[in-house]
Amino acid sequence: NLNGERVCFLTPNDSSFVSCLLAVWSCGGIAVPLCSKHPPSELEYVINHSRASTVVSAVKYTTVVKFGYVFNHSLVDEVSLLCQLLCFTLLACCQYSIHVDQGHNHSLIMYTSGTTGPPKGVLFNHSNIRYQIKSLVDIWEMSSSDVLLHVLPLHHIHGFINALLCPLSINAAVVMEPSFEAGRVWKHLLGESCSNFPRVNVFMAVPTIYTKLIQYFDEHQMCVEETKKKCKDIRLMVSGSASLPLSIMQKWKSITGHTLLERYGMTEFGMGLTNPYKGKRIPGYVGLPFPNVEAKIAASQEGTSDESGELLIKSKSIFQKYWNNNKATKESFVDVGWFKTGDIAVFEDGMFRIVGRSSVDIIKSGGFKLSALDVERVLLEHDHVEEASVLGVPDDTWGQKVVAVIKLTQNSTVDDVTMTSWCREHMARYRIPREFKFVKEIPRNAMGKVNKKTLLQSIESKS
Ligand SMILES: *[C@@H]1O[C@H](CO)[C@@H](O)[C@H](O)[C@H]1NC(C)=O
Ligand SMILES: *[C@@H]1O[C@H](CO)[C@@H](O)[C@H](O)[C@H]1NC(C)=O
Ligand SMILES: *[C@@H]1O[C@H](CO)[C@@H](O)[C@H](O)[C@H]1NC(C)=O
Ligand SMILES: *[C@@H]1O[C@H](CO)[C@@H](O)[C@H](O)[C@H]1NC(C)=O
Ligand SMILES: *[C@@H]1O[C@H](CO)[C@@H](O)[C@H](O)[C@H]1NC(C)=O
Repeated sequence: NLNGERVCFLTPNDSSFVSCLLAVWSCGGIAVPLCSKHPPSELEYVINHSRASTVVSAVKYTTVVKFGYVFNHSLVDEVSLLCQLLCFTLLACCQYSIHVDQGHNHSLIMYTSGTTGPPKGVLFNHSNIRYQIKSLVDIWEMSSSDVLLHVLPLHHIHGFINALLCPLSINAAVVMEPSFEAGRVWKHLLGESCSNFPRVNVFMAVPTIYTKLIQYFDEHQMCVEETKKKCKDIRLMVSGSASLPLSIMQKWKSITGHTLLERYGMTEFGMGLTNPYKGKRIPGYVGLPFPNVEAKIAASQEGTSDESGELLIKSKSIFQKYWNNNKATKESFVDVGWFKTGDIAVFEDGMFRIVGRSSVDIIKSGGFKLSALDVERVLLEHDHVEEASVLGVPDDTWGQKVVAVIKLTQNSTVDDVTMTSWCREHMARYRIPREFKFVKEIPRNAMGKVNKKTLLQSIESKS
């Protein structure tokens, strides 16, 4: 009996992850999934910070997990590595619900790399996770006949709960790709993968994945009619973890016939808001609270007339605390049980819309308050802009100066003068970036998010 001991594990994206997880839970341990892409120093941080008693690693990653500590270091055996089952259905004996009523009530620590300070360990109990699963399964009408295509990292709530535990908890099947590869994903979506695979009918991904699939579609001159026809077998396609650009949503609809369902969530409480499963999905909006989740907008502290404010969430799915960080835990709640998301939102036309992260996306420039996401949305409408990230750079004159970091589409040669005059026609004056930086690549994390603090630092160090 592990009785609340932490077990870190590092596996490929396959059934060995599920084996590890259920083994830890059935012994009453707290699971701490690691990410193979993280550098050794970060893995070391998590293993040390969680005070893990055991580290389980697939053999191929043991060189990554080599530390100066003495660990009770078990290795996932070769047999489970051989089960590089790209596809598996859950056996009845593994049902999540059977295991969670025994042993310790804490279940999981998921480390989040926040925009400030070292990663925080978000601790959940088993019922937090059960609540998350139940509300998603209910509202998205998931059933045992579903087959979900999984291409997301497993150390993140999106890949872990939404795309893995939800289907497994109701005996649905998961087709898991070892990593994302656009060509293979298209084969699954079109039902053209080999006959060993069941027909996929649910897909969950992040905006960058949809972007890459669209690029592949264009490069390979795939047929729209055929794609649309074959995608009719798919019941649900979800996007989350970063805001979905309108252009991607529209293009995806034009090639597959599917309006992506955009929802909003965070590690600390799982999923909070969602566009409707049945009913109109509004681009740019994240809909209404999931069942058993309450959401409200905190009154603006500056006494402005502006309707936006920090989004607060209350739910039984909310985490217990930040592991070994009572100060951060205390600071993240207000009024008894309302979690401060750090995201600024507005409620319009009966739905929530996320305006941006209060720490990086709300820019105060020359007396105006503006949303970096609003500017990004407009920039992305420019034919030659492939990606855009808008920052507020500290500035003596403006307080903050609006700066746009742009990745252009291949072979385009737009310069800042052209961009500026284009912006004049498309946005209010105070929103127009005062500076454009053209880059080859905008760095993103595994979930497709841009770390704006890092981007800002890299820009400041270059200028
Ligand atoms: C491990 O954590 C302890 C306490 O949190 C800290 O004092 C120590 O420096 C850490 N060690 C490493 C190698 O990070
Ligand atoms: C959950 O576990 C904690 C830590 O062991 C313990 O203090 C608490 O009493 C447990 N709660 C329940 C309801 O079992
Ligand atoms: C698992 O999949 C994610 C998403 O495709 C990828 O980022 C990650 O590198 C994969 N992990 C391994 C161990 O290949
Ligand atoms: C788990 O957390 C929820 C909400 O924070 C709480 O209501 C519940 O009692 C906890 N469960 C256990 C077993 O401690
Ligand atoms: C960009 O230019 C190269 C070389 O002229 C060409 O091979 C490629 O097809 C062009 N790409 C696009 C998207 O036009």
